[in-house]
Amino acid sequence: MESLLLTIHVVAGILFVGPIAVVTSLFPRYAPSIAAPTGRSLDVAHMLHRITRVYGLLAMTVPVVGLLLAAVQGRMGEVWISAALVLTILAGGLLALVISPMQGETLESPDGGVRLRRIGMTTGLFNVLWVSVVVLMIVRPGSSGA
Ligand code: HEM
Repeated sequence: MESLLLTIHVVAGILFVGPIAVVTSLFPRYAPSIAAPTGRSLDVAHMLHRITRVYGLLAMTVPVVGLLLAAVQGRMGEVWISAALVLTILAGGLLALVISPMQGETLESPDGGVRLRRIGMTTGLFNVLWVSVVVLMIVRPGSSGA
């Protein structure tokens, strides 16, 4: 049971969280901008936005299965689990409440590039949060070692 949950957890992380990191980082390069109109593609930008939304929903399986796994292993009280939960909520909040809506606004009414720079900065923060969660998963500070 534990092996199955761990497999689903890690595979979902690779397949769902990985692509979000890539497409959100690519979005500012293809999204429409009044300041730099050449070399951009509205179709590609729409596709990247769609992948951001769909994979964002699919990625929710990672913390859900992670929490299930922690419960099965009887380690819900460990500090690294709580830290992972907080960082995951922060990252999910950035994606759902900041990155994805700003992508949509840019597709509807492109500006001179300010919004794209904001998307770039927020995406950088988002990716740092995911990397931090993965480090937590491997180092497991405060783990009983069980
Ligand atoms: C609420 C959030 C999360 C919780 C509660 C959680 C919980 C867990 C638990 C209980 C394990 C098993 C550790 C063991 O068997 O000793 C694990 C492993 C792992 N998790 Fe998470 N996880 C969360 C989020 C994430 C996220 C967002 C990612 C990646 C994007 C991730 C990637 C991994 C990886 C790669 C492992 C395997 C680590 C190893 O075996 O060395 N986890 N997680």
